[in-house]
Amino acid sequence: MKIAMIASEAAPFIKTGGLGDVLQALPAELSRIKGNQIAVFLPYYKKIKYNPAIETELVTAFTVNLTWRQQYAGLFRWKGGSGNLQIYFLDNEFYFCRDGIYGFYDDGERFAYFAKAVLAAMARIELRPEILHCHDWQTGLVPIYLEAEFRDRFPSTRTVFTIHNVEYQGKTGPEFFNEVLGLDDRWRGVCSFDGCINFMKAAVVQADLVTTVSETYATELRYPYFAHGLSGVLASRGEKLRGITNGIDVSVYDPAADPAIAQNYSAADPSGKRACKRALQQELGLAESDAPILAMVTRLASHKGIDILCYILRRLLERELQLVIVGTGEAKYEHALNSVASEYPGKFSMNLRFDSALASRVYAGADIYLMPSRSEPCGLSQLIAMHYGAVPVVNATGGLKDTVPPFNPDTGEGRGYTFQSYNGDDFLGAIDRALGDYYNNRAAWEALVRADMETDFSWQAPAQKYMELYCSLI
Ligand code: GLC
Repeated sequence: MKIAMIASEAAPFIKTGGLGDVLQALPAELSRIKGNQIAVFLPYYKKIKYNPAIETELVTAFTVNLTWRQQYAGLFRWKGGSGNLQIYFLDNEFYFCRDGIYGFYDDGERFAYFAKAVLAAMARIELRPEILHCHDWQTGLVPIYLEAEFRDRFPSTRTVFTIHNVEYQGKTGPEFFNEVLGLDDRWRGVCSFDGCINFMKAAVVQADLVTTVSETYATELRYPYFAHGLSGVLASRGEKLRGITNGIDVSVYDPAADPAIAQNYSAADPSGKRACKRALQQELGLAESDAPILAMVTRLASHKGIDILCYILRRLLERELQLVIVGTGEAKYEHALNSVASEYPGKFSMNLRFDSALASRVYAGADIYLMPSRSEPCGLSQLIAMHYGAVPVVNATGGLKDTVPPFNPDTGEGRGYTFQSYNGDDFLGAIDRALGDYYNNRAAWEALVRADMETDFSWQAPAQKYMELYCSLI
């Protein structure tokens, strides 16, 4: 099958979050399935274009019109691609050669341009995919332009739109329709929502199938609490809204091979994890004790549950444990966490930075991983944590609910500790259950750690599910 993936980020070229991880691993996994040919389209951002390690060649150049604007488009191909997996970059220095990748006044215009330019590029190189798979609002106009202006060149191409985060929808003023999009007036209704032009809403209505990154989140998206205004539109898609839970790239996140950690280990021989714990305590100035290390690698934002963490923080630190947090974010949380950490030297290590090697060492050294997100489409760090043998404590929402079933020490079923309603006391209750098993139920605890490490979080099963969906469309 020929599949084109369109997105605004993909590791290792460019990444700001989980979307970038997914767009690295899913195309690669799909390309390993016999008979598949995958093409990924990304903007040629400054950070990619001027990175000498990313070698490309020009394939074609042409012009894209957005009403009165006539914009250059260059299509570059990555030289590191293979027969089954090609990466293409859409070049336009005016739109993409900037420091940073999102957050500009003209993001709407930049990604309207990108949607149209990708379709025009595929038409020029006569790439006619059976499936066009678009990710998040930045690619939301692709299904619209496909139907409105390119259908004759792609008569049988079907579209899939995946929501990674409904919080960002790509909204512009209503004048954007006439001033930029240049679409026939019959598309105005599809693109409009709540007095704005809304890229994500347009894609949800127009794509042949809408997916999101876990089954529970697919259900939650039908409710106002989770859907940031789009619950009605999403619910109206009925069976055409599905959830497929993400995996992780187990070749990237592998405690048996990770070069950043003190000693490699695996489920079969977890002994190295102890050395990793000691090394982490030394690196971060924690006491070298056997108390459990609780860890978080996170953005410091309230939707990640930092508000309820702050609420329980002092009570938590009265317990026999150590706490490690890595991440940056909202200033009020940075200040609050830093000041409490300074009161607990040797016990609470606060690291206001993001550093992926340190993150690896934290996953490897930690016993317990905290992820109390208010909502979580999928979440990748709880999967990495389990793979590294850190038992998760999570709010049972979205992908956290699907990937961390509650542990029952009597039967050995489950993978972690959960709480059901978003509040600090229930979060602390779940942590206390974890601590209880860590201290008093050692055999069950060690079996749990091992079972978490052995669980298959690879992309193989999710990639098969995407294939089934694609097949159902053609
Ligand atoms: C977004 C979501 C996160 C998900 C990731 C990849 O970043 O917030 O939950 O894991 O996308 O799909």
